[in-house]
Amino acid sequence: MSDDSLIREAARVLRGSQRLVILTGAGVSKESGIPTFRDALEGLWENYDAQQLATPDAFRRNPRFVWDWYQHRREMMAEARPNPGHEAIAALQNHLPQAVVVTQNIDGLHQMAGSQDVIELHGSLRRNKCFDNCQGNPTLINIHTLAWNPATDDGPPPCPHCGGWVRPDVVWFHETLPPGALERAHLLCAAADVVLVIGTSGVVQPAANLPFVAARRNATIIEVNPELSQITAIARYYLPGPSGEIMPQVLAAMTDGE
Ligand code: APR
Repeated sequence: MSDDSLIREAARVLRGSQRLVILTGAGVSKESGIPTFRDALEGLWENYDAQQLATPDAFRRNPRFVWDWYQHRREMMAEARPNPGHEAIAALQNHLPQAVVVTQNIDGLHQMAGSQDVIELHGSLRRNKCFDNCQGNPTLINIHTLAWNPATDDGPPPCPHCGGWVRPDVVWFHETLPPGALERAHLLCAAADVVLVIGTSGVVQPAANLPFVAARRNATIIEVNPELSQITAIARYYLPGPSGEIMPQVLAAMTDGE
C-alpha cells in the first residue's frame, strides 16, 4: 500500500473509531526539540547514567545534585512548544471527543497543544511534589509561591507542610506509576477499538504493554514512527515517518469532505 493510501486507510479507521486511545512517547516531542533524558546528560552530569540519577536513592544521597539536573532539563525544555504532531493530536481529539491521550512524556506539550484528556504515565516535569507526599499521594507544591529562591538557594526547596524536600513530580526508576494512571490507561486499552501509537520504541514497561492489551481484544493498532519498534509487529497500519509530518496528513484525510 502506498504511503498516501496508508494515510487514507488509517484516517478511515480513526474516523470510524468509537473508543480511541492515543499512546505517545518521546518521539512525538522530538520535533519540539525536547532532548531525551539521555541527551540531557551533559556538563556536570555527563559521566552519569540516567538510571543513577532518576531514582529516589540518588535523590536521598544528593538532593541538590538531582534537583539541579532536573532544573537543567527544565531550562532545556522551557523554550519547547508543541509541534504540528501535538496540534494534530489535539485536533483529532476535537473530532473524536472520546479519544484519550496516554503519554509517557513529562513535558506537558500535549496539554499545551490543547489536548484535554491526557493521562501522564510518568508524571510531569512542570509539577513538583513533597518527597514524602506528607499530605497524600501526590502532595503537589507550587514552588513559585515559596520563599525559596532558585537563584540563590541551591538545591531542592523545603516542603511548606513538613519541611522535607520538594522533588519533581515525575516517576523515577524503581517507583510505581501515579495512582490510578496505569489502571485507567489499562482499562481504556482493554476496551479500545483502535489504538494509535505514536513515537515510542515500545521498550519501557508497563506503558509498552498497553497496545498488546488492546490487540489481544482485537483492537486495530496504528503506529506512527520513522523507525520500526517493538509495537510494529502488531500494527495493522504502520505509517513510517515523523509525527509532525504524518499526523497533520492523517487529520487532513480524516476531515476531507467534512
Ligand atoms: N516522530 C515520531 N516518532 C519519532 C520521531 C518523530 N519525529 N523521532 C523519533 N521517533 C521515535 C523513535 O524511532 C523511537 O521509536 O520515537 C521513539 C522514542 O523512543 P524512546 O526514546 O525509547 O522513548 P519512549 O518510547 O517514549 O520511552 C521513553 O523511557 O526514557 C524513559 O521514562 C522515560 O518515558 C520515557 C521512556
